[in-house]
Amino acid sequence: QWTTASIVDEQVTRIREQVGTGRAICGLSGGVDSAVAAALVQRAIGDRLTCVFVDHGLLRAGERAQVERDFVAATGVNLVTVDARERFLGALAGVTDPEQKRKIIGREFIRVFEQAAQDLQDKAGAEGERYDFLVQGTLYPDVVESGGGTGAANIKSHHNVGGLPEDLQFALVEPLRALFKDEVRRVGTELGLPETIVQRQPFPGPGLGIRIIGEVTAERLEILRSADAIAREELTSAGLDRDIWQCPVVLLADVRSVGVQGDGRTYGHPVVLRPVSSEDAMTADWTRLPYDVLERISTRITNEVSEVNRVVLDVTSKPPGTIEWE
Ligand code: XMP
Repeated sequence: QWTTASIVDEQVTRIREQVGTGRAICGLSGGVDSAVAAALVQRAIGDRLTCVFVDHGLLRAGERAQVERDFVAATGVNLVTVDARERFLGALAGVTDPEQKRKIIGREFIRVFEQAAQDLQDKAGAEGERYDFLVQGTLYPDVVESGGGTGAANIKSHHNVGGLPEDLQFALVEPLRALFKDEVRRVGTELGLPETIVQRQPFPGPGLGIRIIGEVTAERLEILRSADAIAREELTSAGLDRDIWQCPVVLLADVRSVGVQGDGRTYGHPVVLRPVSSEDAMTADWTRLPYDVLERISTRITNEVSEVNRVVLDVTSKPPGTIEWE
């Protein structure tokens, strides 16, 4: 009979067998899968694991702190944070096409991660050690989707790491390969990870970059981050987190609408609330959020985020609309 504790024990044993006295690197995305995979490997090999977290500047409010403070506090893991915010903004300057944004973000992410891995390798090399293993949070559905190939073949773009250079030869450690998402969450809880990490809703690898319709700039990110934080706060305090799959907040950055605030006319931007219910993100229904919750979100956003003077609700199912606007 499988219990969560026995899954943890078995994986810890396997990881120890695989890694031996070697060292491993793990890229953290802020998501559940990489966090749980890293926590398992750290349980198995302790400080011979180093995690790398790339801050691409497209994160939501508090997400970096969640990794740097909460994840580290829960696991005691070695963490390197790379602040790549300027680099990503530079690469995204002038870009409005969604697929183009995804390509750029994926490409830059890999480059930054490669460099961080190389730096770690160089440092370890100076002490006569090296990193031979790369930890990935591949789940069973990922394995099935890609026809059951090896980990290297089914790396998804954006928040997983792929295409490492020839001179960085890693063997993959994939302790979640046999598990489904709900099992991964239970393993995370068993390992002592906080609820905020274990129960996190899906968030796309390209982050807020694909929730700004138009060019991504530092100022627009700040506006969206503030509006998004309010929506999440209100949904959480209404106890709705488990009822919705996710609720993207989208900034229509190139659209302006007239408003009136105080005794002045404003000419601001609309944001869209996109609450959806889903089983697997392949199809989705728009969530009938209570009117009072919608009202609180709308009032707070227009009061607290001065550049936003209109909040609209997306009532489209998937299909025909995708969950994200880009
Ligand atoms: P769509 O918009 O295709 O989204 O209905 C389905 C699910 O996937 C997430 N999503 C992404 N995740 N990189 C990711 O890692 C991406 O480029 C990406 N695009 C969408 C989305 O948030 C939803 O959960």
